[in-house]
Amino acid sequence: MNDSHYVHRNSGRRSSGTNRTSSGRNNGRRVLSEQEKEAVRRRHRERMRRKKRQAAMIQALVILLIIAAAVIFFVFKGFGFVFGKITESRQKAIAAQQFQIHTTEAAQTSSQVPETTTIEPTTTVPETTMDPNLVLSNGRYLDITRPMVALTFDDGPRADVGNRIMDYLEAVDGRGTFFMVGQLVREFPDEVKRMAENGHEVANHSWDHDIHLSRESSDYILSEFSKTDDAISSVCGVVPEVYRLPGGNISDTVNSTLSKPLIYWSIDTLDWKTKDPDKTFETVKAEVTDGSIVLMHEIYEATGKACEQMIPWLHDQGYQLVTISELLTYRSNNARTGNKGQIFCFPPVETTASDSSS
Ligand code: NI
Repeated sequence: MNDSHYVHRNSGRRSSGTNRTSSGRNNGRRVLSEQEKEAVRRRHRERMRRKKRQAAMIQALVILLIIAAAVIFFVFKGFGFVFGKITESRQKAIAAQQFQIHTTEAAQTSSQVPETTTIEPTTTVPETTMDPNLVLSNGRYLDITRPMVALTFDDGPRADVGNRIMDYLEAVDGRGTFFMVGQLVREFPDEVKRMAENGHEVANHSWDHDIHLSRESSDYILSEFSKTDDAISSVCGVVPEVYRLPGGNISDTVNSTLSKPLIYWSIDTLDWKTKDPDKTFETVKAEVTDGSIVLMHEIYEATGKACEQMIPWLHDQGYQLVTISELLTYRSNNARTGNKGQIFCFPPVETTASDSSS
């Protein structure tokens, strides 16, 4: 601004002088000198530049506002998601707590449990919150007073059969136990991960299924099982808690060497021998009782096929399909053992006079 004032004053003074210069008058009109023209052009350019800068600034401001609005929107959405998760997990914790507290009366009068009444009901929880016998286990609810059966699948993994079996189990909120051979585990990592993630039991059936393992030294036996523990946990992050001996063959050396529970069975389906889905199913139908441990093999397609009928049938009969560790947890005192301390089954506790009075 100062600059332009200066130029005006200057040219005014000059035009009033007698000397005709290039900046003097011509026919009454003032002729601008080159310098002045240049100044005018410079001012014009300056104005244009300023306009452009302003336009650019406005544009930037608009973009900034849009970005800010988007950021605020997503931050709020994120908060909503996080708080949703927190509420959800709190709900689950409260529900789980309630099952363990023996408050049948309190639960019936909803006024005494204000926390649950304020929570919006989920699809699975409402009526079950009333039942003190329900426990949250491996991602679903178990009624610890109702019949349980453990289906066990040996000699895998084998993904095409194992995944099929897990599909049938999960469809009825069941879980299975997979006694795996260590040297096969790395061939089916996705299947083994699914077992662990979905609450099935990853279990140990030795490294290479040496049927004469029981005749070997303590070191040999230990390495067969520790190698398999390592292989399974490196694939899915879970260390097996239960073992099954190849062929169920045991010795005193095995007994003194291995410290985890050794799991036998009470129903031998002979699926490996018949490879007949109907016969496998019929055997289970005929022999199953509360607390049975069923022996099957994951490596036969016929066994997968047998499960397609067997699993829904067991569910319809009222059996809850559970893992061996669940039986060890909820029926810890009922394990029936034989054959040098191997566990055969978990029959229900017989109700005695002292039980019913407590
Ligand atoms: Ni086996």
